[in-house]
Amino acid sequence: MLNCLSGAVRQEHTVVMIFLFATQMTARSMTPFRRQPFSLDQRTSDAPFGKSPDCSANQAAPMNRFAVCVSRKLGTLLLAISAVSHAPFAAAASATSPSLDPHSGMVATCAECHGAAGEGSAAAGIPRLAGQNADYMAHALSMFKAGTRASPAMQAIARNLSDSDMRALSDYFAAQKPPLAAATQPPQQADVQRGQQLAQLGDGANVAACFSCHAAGGKGNGARFPSIAGQPATFTVARLHEFQERAKHGKPKPGSMTAVAAQMSDAQIEAAAAYLSTLSTN
Ligand code: HEC
Ligand code: HEC
Repeated sequence: MLNCLSGAVRQEHTVVMIFLFATQMTARSMTPFRRQPFSLDQRTSDAPFGKSPDCSANQAAPMNRFAVCVSRKLGTLLLAISAVSHAPFAAAASATSPSLDPHSGMVATCAECHGAAGEGSAAAGIPRLAGQNADYMAHALSMFKAGTRASPAMQAIARNLSDSDMRALSDYFAAQKPPLAAATQPPQQADVQRGQQLAQLGDGANVAACFSCHAAGGKGNGARFPSIAGQPATFTVARLHEFQERAKHGKPKPGSMTAVAAQMSDAQIEAAAAYLSTLSTN
């Protein structure tokens, strides 16, 4: 899934950068004659990227659909970024149009992948942001920006966010309360039960109970221990594999998530992910 994502991003990058360059040049040459500059909203909902496929829908061939979604969304995203680079014009506009919300276009950009209210997408393996700890998200965004957390999609996005953008977006999504994202397939009941046991009790000396750190119901505990409730199972599985991968490149710190994940079997990862995907964050 991640390889698929990075492939899609790389392929799309060159085309979009050329497009972006052309857009920038056109916008620049038009600017002196423009009384009302672009608002972020106008630009993110513009053609030719206007209609994106519904990435949360449950259909066949999720990998192909995901590649299409991500490439379309990346186009929208870069448009939004190009709008951000016109920020001085937007600031000048706010004097004449007080309703202009500098963050609304960015929220729409995030919603393209993370869902209208940050509910996430199981088909695309995209995490739920709604109900997540705001400080944890702001920190995650700064790690994407610094390149210390890997994700081709999120690194490209975070690079263009200021600290105050990160703060505002994190506060916004933390306060959302949408229902859980639709699962790609209903979780197996046996997995859900094994996952519940692992989350509440752990597995002897091997794996500590998830809720001992992530709090009852997986709702999270402060900025350090994120909410793991209500995440699409596809995201939890991918993220736990990522922690396992990290554990191979150096001895994990005791008590870190990398250390916990390194002890988990694939069956335990599947079970935990199935169970957590059923838990409400509200
Ligand atoms: C092109 C699709 C896409 C767009 C647009 C997008 N994201 Fe993401 N986001 C992802 C993916 C995929 C991940 C999972 C990355 C990983 O862990 O590998 C992610 C992860 C995150 C995380 C970490 C969540 C966690 O629990 O670990 C945060 C926070 C986040 N995104 C915020 C945002 C914000 C804010 C925006 C808008 C400015 C945004 N994203 C736009 C695809 C996207
Ligand atoms: C010893 C404490 C501890 C235990 C036990 C623990 N975790 Fe974590 N977990 C963490 C910390 C700390 C992080 C944040 C790591 C980071 O962001 O780099 C984390 C992050 C995560 C994430 C990423 C969340 C996100 O939104 O990006 C997932 C998924 C996760 N844990 C699942 C689990 C599961 C499943 C279990 C039980 C099998 C578990 N954790 C047990 C400490 C723990």
